[in-house]
Amino acid sequence: MAVDVSRSRIADPSLAPAGEQRIAWVARHSPVLNGLARARLADGALRGKRVAVVVHLEAKTAYLASLLAEAGAEVVAAGSNPGTTQDAAAAALVARGIEVHATHGASPDEFERDLLAAADAQPDIVVDDGAELTLRILDHRPEVAAKLRGVTEETTTGVARLRALEASGRLSFPAVAANDAACKHLYDNRYGTGQTTVEAILRLTNLLAAGKVFCIVGYGWVGRGVARYAAGNGARVTVVEIDPVKALEAYMDGHRVAGAAGGLADADVVVTATGDVGVLGRDGLALLKDGAVLANAGHDDREIDVEALGPGEEVRPGVTRHELGGGRAVYLLVGGRLVNIAGADGHPVEIMDLSFSVQALAAHLLASTEFPPGVQPFPAELDREIARTKLASLSVTLPQPA
Ligand code: NAI
Repeated sequence: MAVDVSRSRIADPSLAPAGEQRIAWVARHSPVLNGLARARLADGALRGKRVAVVVHLEAKTAYLASLLAEAGAEVVAAGSNPGTTQDAAAAALVARGIEVHATHGASPDEFERDLLAAADAQPDIVVDDGAELTLRILDHRPEVAAKLRGVTEETTTGVARLRALEASGRLSFPAVAANDAACKHLYDNRYGTGQTTVEAILRLTNLLAAGKVFCIVGYGWVGRGVARYAAGNGARVTVVEIDPVKALEAYMDGHRVAGAAGGLADADVVVTATGDVGVLGRDGLALLKDGAVLANAGHDDREIDVEALGPGEEVRPGVTRHELGGGRAVYLLVGGRLVNIAGADGHPVEIMDLSFSVQALAAHLLASTEFPPGVQPFPAELDREIARTKLASLSVTLPQPA
């Protein structure tokens, strides 16, 4: 089946002008996509290739999808989480002739159908997030998997899922670990998620950071960034981490390090950032004090055990109050979804300029090069080219090696 914009399922086509406005702002602040990536994509390698883009569907993703289409790809887009889809960006893409299957707040059934509709466009290449489309193609559309040139994966959780597929012998096509590129995780996971997670928590709650205890669960790239920005806003940071090396790093970075019991008991704000599920479960919830705010920055909506929290009452947009018994109540942000994307505008544009340049060049590589099946690294020389282009846009020149 060819890509066909008339098959699209979006909320409201009349939102297209609002989406266009946001995409124009992204375009204005994306020097690496506009320079390096656009020039590389112009060689025709993507012409006629079907590309599925299944990344949080907001304006930055819409710009990436548009650049791939401009390079001649037939693009179909879907969201990677119904809580992060922005209907205006989806409408603008459809107005640009791109097939889209995504609505904000889609039910689990609708979300599933949207992803399968993207699979039914029979993509040659998948730009994925959390391996959401890749897993469904393998499980439900083996004929599409058999013809895939490859996928390129945006995030830590997705790369972990791809490695698990490879270990079990199911990864029958190449998968570029875009997340592992330096120009992705060094800046996106750390600075981008760090800044926007703290911003989203403060904006959703309208509370003060200074003096509060932020308990960060997981001190990987994301946890480090969130801790840094929380501390920068005057919060006192406690880190809960299972890896002793990361825990020691947190200690040397100046944070208090504690076990779950010590870390959660006095937390004003808990942020999960592990990529695991059920990290804050019944046992952890029992430790929380009255009024604690709970937010998740990891890929999976179930890092905080939302079911264990029971029903909630909306007390502000994106904030639900959950009674825990014993006179305690806690406040959950955006239903436990990634707080910076579902509860705000996602990463800063300049960060996604780097992350999506990695994705654009990875998609181009998959279109132009034959790779063996399995997880493939993003080439280091392309990483350096992206960094060099970004530095040039900042008027920073490096000394020439002697
Ligand atoms: P990472 O692998 O660098 O760090 C995860 C850390 O969590 C590790 O240090 C690990 O030891 C620790 N951990 C695992 N289980 C734990 C547990 N039960 N208790 C305490 N610590 C535990 O991963 P990274 O890059 O920091 O990503 C974390 C999550 O954030 C992933 O799901 C990733 O996909 C997601 N992510 C979200 C973004 C956003 O915009 N919100 C952006 C980038 C990544």
